[in-house]
Amino acid sequence: MRSLSCCVLLALALLGPSTAAARKCDLQGLWRNELGSNVTLSALDAAGTFSGSYHTAVAATNKKILVSPLQGTQQHPGTKRQPTFSFTVQWQFSDSATAFVGQCFVDHRGKETLETTWLLREEVPSRRDAWKATRVGTSTFTRIK
Ligand code: BTN
Repeated sequence: MRSLSCCVLLALALLGPSTAAARKCDLQGLWRNELGSNVTLSALDAAGTFSGSYHTAVAATNKKILVSPLQGTQQHPGTKRQPTFSFTVQWQFSDSATAFVGQCFVDHRGKETLETTWLLREEVPSRRDAWKATRVGTSTFTRIK
């Protein structure tokens, strides 16, 4: 019995951090949300900032959708297994601004998911219209590459 538990401990130690359960959630890659929007995120730099591009599948305007750049930061890069992050998208076809905040989750099989909440601020002609200028929503991204 004692040697069995010894073997189990040894196996766990050898498998170590490469097991799916211990893997860190990695923002870098290509992601898709429930609307069909595609997001590419770069690797983090030393400060934990990243860039990328957002190809939205839907828009609040009637203008032709263009792939748009994004800038973001991850909290405590390299130390957290399921880190929080935020990014803003600079839409190339609209005057709106969107900010995403979220957390990168990894399950026991190593499958990663970005759970986010977003705020979309639309440009309105006057302060009187400010009450209707902001939309809020949640979005889940799964890795496609
Ligand atoms: C605009 O319509 O003015 C810019 C495009 C906004 C797209 C929004 S951002 C939140 C939501 N999630 C998406 O993937 N697309 C929409």
